Amino acid sequence: MRLEGKVALITGAGSGIGQAIVERFAAEGARVVINYRPGGKHSGEEAAKLITGRGQKATAIAANVDNRAEVEIMVQQTVATFGRLDIAVCNAGIEIKKPFQDVTDDEWHKVMGVNLYGSFLVSQAAVRQMIKQGQGGRVIFMSSVHEDIPFPGYTAYCASKGAIRMMMRNLALELAQHKITANNIAPGAISTPINEKVMKDPDALKAAAAQIPWGRFGKPEEVAAVAVFLASDEAEYVTGSTYYVDGGLTRQVPKA
Ligand code: BGC
Repeated sequence: MRLEGKVALITGAGSGIGQAIVERFAAEGARVVINYRPGGKHSGEEAAKLITGRGQKATAIAANVDNRAEVEIMVQQTVATFGRLDIAVCNAGIEIKKPFQDVTDDEWHKVMGVNLYGSFLVSQAAVRQMIKQGQGGRVIFMSSVHEDIPFPGYTAYCASKGAIRMMMRNLALELAQHKITANNIAPGAISTPINEKVMKDPDALKAAAAQIPWGRFGKPEEVAAVAVFLASDEAEYVTGSTYYVDGGLTRQVPKA
């Protein structure tokens, strides 16, 4: 087992990619904290029960990632429950589709709040704990192919993901002295609730899949597999990079 003895906090873990990471990490021997949005559609309580039912270790914590007090309490609860924190996966993310000229302040702040400020708060609280422990650590940000390529109609989303790319690079340099690595995973189109609308519309799904060299959407488990590697001891020398899991989406040649 590749994460034996480690404690991992995964945000936005009540569904989609976060949930798949929780499952894989628990199976690899980590004790997992499943963060989910209070009052949201996807609670992490069920997943925690399933995991503990299998004899693995998990707890669910409701907290808004864009609220400093809630994030700090969540990290304190993690340490109170499992004694330490080794791996933080800043995965919680939202997107709102709107033509640029119509985006409201509220929409901008909501997307930037969860995606960027939330990643800042969670990684900062986690890193403070890791530095205190003095045994290194892992920070993994869930960015997107849109940390690099544009996505018309999603300006705030792209801005937040592009900013996460630079935040991660800075963390990698600043935290190397503490033996804490920082990396991004950049998923392409993955079968998760964020893509529910497209997935329910056969024509839209066909059109979207046709744009992916691999010819299909990715599975959450395919993203989780990369997260396990980055979280593991084997990835000690891996820091400051983005790992694409996109079926070649970012590298495609425009269709004639
Ligand atoms: C977005 C999805 C989109 C995918 C590929 C992701 O970051 O959340 O809505 O399908 O990128 O464009």
